[in-house]
Amino acid sequence: MGAKRLLGAFLAIGGVPLVALGGLIVHADIAVWPGGVTFAATALSALAVAYIWLRDIDLLAETLRQAMANQGPALSSAAAAPRIPSVERIAHGIEQLARGLANRAGEIGVLLRANQAIIERLPDPLLVLAPDRAVLRANTAMRTAFRDEIPVLLRHPVLRSAISRAWTEKATQTVDLSLPVPVEREVQATIIYFDPPLADGGQALVILSDRTRERRVEAMRADFVANVSHELRTPLASVIGFIDTIRGPAADDPPAQTRFLGIMAEQADRMRRLIDDLLSLSRIELVEHELPSTRIDVAELVRGVAASFEPRLAERRTSLILDLAPGLPTVPADADQIAQVASNLIENAIKYGREAGQVTVSVSAARAGVVLVVNDDGPGMARVHLPRLTERFYRVDKARSRNAGGTGLGLAIVKHITNRHRGQLQIESEEGKGSRFSVWLPIGKVDG
Ligand SMILES: Nc1ncnc2c1ncn2[C@@H]1O[C@H](COP(=O)(O)OP(=O)(O)OP(=O)(O)O)[C@@H](O)[C@H]1O
Ligand SMILES: [Mg+2]
Repeated sequence: MGAKRLLGAFLAIGGVPLVALGGLIVHADIAVWPGGVTFAATALSALAVAYIWLRDIDLLAETLRQAMANQGPALSSAAAAPRIPSVERIAHGIEQLARGLANRAGEIGVLLRANQAIIERLPDPLLVLAPDRAVLRANTAMRTAFRDEIPVLLRHPVLRSAISRAWTEKATQTVDLSLPVPVEREVQATIIYFDPPLADGGQALVILSDRTRERRVEAMRADFVANVSHELRTPLASVIGFIDTIRGPAADDPPAQTRFLGIMAEQADRMRRLIDDLLSLSRIELVEHELPSTRIDVAELVRGVAASFEPRLAERRTSLILDLAPGLPTVPADADQIAQVASNLIENAIKYGREAGQVTVSVSAARAGVVLVVNDDGPGMARVHLPRLTERFYRVDKARSRNAGGTGLGLAIVKHITNRHRGQLQIESEEGKGSRFSVWLPIGKVDG
């Protein structure tokens, strides 16, 4: 408390009575000594009142300051309670007000946390954008689906222009996007614009809903019908032709009938295999954007698959060398699908490799992952075919593949399974020297 403020308060309280008393003493209306005592007593009491007044006001100001700083009641100290009753009541009122505010703030906090928990657990990826379009918040689904790629997502031209439209029109926008990485995904984005902004500064919500499955189902249905009708027509026409022959020209020729029935059985079997492969491909495509949830030991799995090829190896007099590195890490993978990859590659190596040749199958560690390599020393393929090998029904030598019972879907299946595992398929081949198919699978996050 400054001396200047004390002097000011003292003069405000005691100034007038002291000047009046002084005047009376000077003009001898009052005897000097009782007058002097009264003067001194008045001055002292004015000083005491001024001191208590200033001190209480300071205490009040301090109580307010603390209440504001704590966002709650002031830290009360018994040693410094205001002395003037009305000031004490004001201080008490401030304390109660602050306590009430603190309770309200607590309640608001609880509501806010409840809202945040709802947003966090929504199954659809969601972003909250600030007025400057920066990301304020991303929920768990968004962080899981896009990890570090949220800025990339926001730079998607279709999404970016929809966000701009939401800002200029101040209205909700809905757009369909195709996200190319890490796997192709069809997504519907809804941008909900808030005017005025939300209490936490959020100007808009961006909600993504995955439409991949629905779009895939539509596209697959169309593909499936086209492929099947095309690929089934040949064997079906052949079966119908033989039925006509058996009924007509060969009606009385049992040896010819037996021969034709054999061909018909082969054609029917071919149709069955085609349908099995197409269905298997459809099932893989349906889950292609979902990462597998189990972890497997690829080397062990490949050992089992390779063993199942013994009869085929003997038939073609092919020798198989298995080179499995010990102590490899597990990878997130679907065991049945990886077994199908190994099986399709080994089957091709035996089928298209040379008779009495050598097939090498190895599993080893590579670039934060595990790589399966199937190598053969067969005739190989010309470079032009390599980029197209994984297309459905693409065969280098149609007749040879058909004779070997191939449907042309084996490598398409391998490619889709590899994609689903976020892996990589590499095909190398040199005419006259052989082919080499490598499938790399990432180790992924070990703690899931
Ligand atoms: N190791 C290989 N050496 C030479 N050519 C190969 C090899 N693997 C595949 N090919 C060629 O690639 C084509 C496509 O292979 P893919 O496995 O997709 O079909 P397929 O073997 O004909 O039929 P499916 O595997 O469905 O029975 C084959 O027809 C063959 O011409
Ligand atoms: Mg094959």
